[in-house]
Amino acid sequence: MSPLLFLLAGAIACFFIWWLLIETEGVYLGKRAVVWLYDLYARRYDRVKQFDDYSDQLLLAQPLLDRLRPQVDPLILDVATGAGRLPMLMARNGRFEGHVIGLDHSRKMLDVAESKLRQERFGEFISLARGDAMDLPFPDGAFDAVACLESLEFFPDAEAALAELARVLRPGGLLLTSNRIDTRWMPGRTLSRPRLAQILTACDMLSIEFEAWEEDYDKVWARKAGGTESRIASAPESNAEWRSHR
Ligand SMILES: C[S@@+](CC[C@H](N)C(=O)[O-])C[C@H]1O[C@@H](n2cnc3c(N)ncnc32)[C@H](O)[C@@H]1O
Repeated sequence: MSPLLFLLAGAIACFFIWWLLIETEGVYLGKRAVVWLYDLYARRYDRVKQFDDYSDQLLLAQPLLDRLRPQVDPLILDVATGAGRLPMLMARNGRFEGHVIGLDHSRKMLDVAESKLRQERFGEFISLARGDAMDLPFPDGAFDAVACLESLEFFPDAEAALAELARVLRPGGLLLTSNRIDTRWMPGRTLSRPRLAQILTACDMLSIEFEAWEEDYDKVWARKAGGTESRIASAPESNAEWRSHR
């Protein structure tokens, strides 16, 4: 092989490895690879993402609370919570009197979330659970709201995951999720708006709304069909109950 060809083959191999492990965060290698990479990446996650608490309050926490009104004490599940972005936002919001369970498959991401919630003493508002989005360890209709942000594309089957999110929502409950709009690097892993709306409709979800949000994502809201009665919020007695899932 000529040195030039050798260099070219090396560059293509490096690009392919970068694409598989970094750009697409292991999605084409399966669930275990995704979780392994998030375990590796956990301590740098917040630093790399640089979420802006102010705009997240304005664009996530406030609209979520507004849509849940008049209920101020909802029980919320945040699937693929990562380093606890949504639970921390809710707990920091003075209007929130409910409870958020943050679930993730990565132990290390949960460790980061846990150290933040301990630091700010948010145990009253937040519990953490280790589990798989594809098989949520909760009964049907358990939550007033279910969130799943920047994560659908990482699950092995987004359609089955959405059905699982809808299953644990109470009738009339609120879904907040995100849809990746930057599709360049993830062929076959992203959903068009009409396709996502079709999947949500098949999951018994109504009032589906797409909102432009971040550079890479739309925000998606939907309501589960059925009653509007609110669940009596019953936060777990202590975090221990939920940590037992880990
Ligand atoms: C890009 S992060 C999003 C975290 C958080 N929602 C946010 O907005 O910052 C994706 C998260 O999905 C989690 N994840 C990937 N596959 C999962 C699965 N099958 N079940 C639960 N969590 C999963 C990863 O561990 C990671 O924490």
